[in-house]
Amino acid sequence: MFVCQGNICRSPLAQALFEHLLQRRGVTARYKVDSTGVSSYHVGESADRRMRETAARHGITVNHRARAVTQRDLAQYDLILAMDRDNYAILQRKAQNQQQRSRIRMFRDFDPVANGAIDVPDPWYGGMNGFQNVYEIVERTCEALLDQLEGDSIS
Ligand code: 4NP
Repeated sequence: MFVCQGNICRSPLAQALFEHLLQRRGVTARYKVDSTGVSSYHVGESADRRMRETAARHGITVNHRARAVTQRDLAQYDLILAMDRDNYAILQRKAQNQQQRSRIRMFRDFDPVANGAIDVPDPWYGGMNGFQNVYEIVERTCEALLDQLEGDSIS
């Protein structure tokens, strides 16, 4: 499960990209993919138009309704990936035991060219360049994540 703040930009993109990669590799049935937000401010909304348009230019359809993370999510998902440190801190506070806390990781831990960057930048207040930047980070990181999950650490 991918988690950002509003569940309208970064995490729904990650979900759509990861699902696309699963299909391309023929391993869809092995995964349950989801995305949520730590905030409930945008619950019920479709993904941000700027994010949808950026993804569409790359042939990716983002079709998701925002929802807020629940205790059930934290109990259910094996790997919970936070888009930035704020999201991570909130998730860690919500988690109810050590097992749940250990399943929460930073998404960019899997970025092969993070160069020390920790956060996927929040594109909400920026221009379209920010959305393209987010797209590139999320695309390469989802590829590397799936490589690792499928046991191929050479990406
Ligand atoms: P996201 O982007 O966390 O990637 O969905 C944001 C969306 C909305 C807000 C912040 C970030 N907001 O402040 O409303």
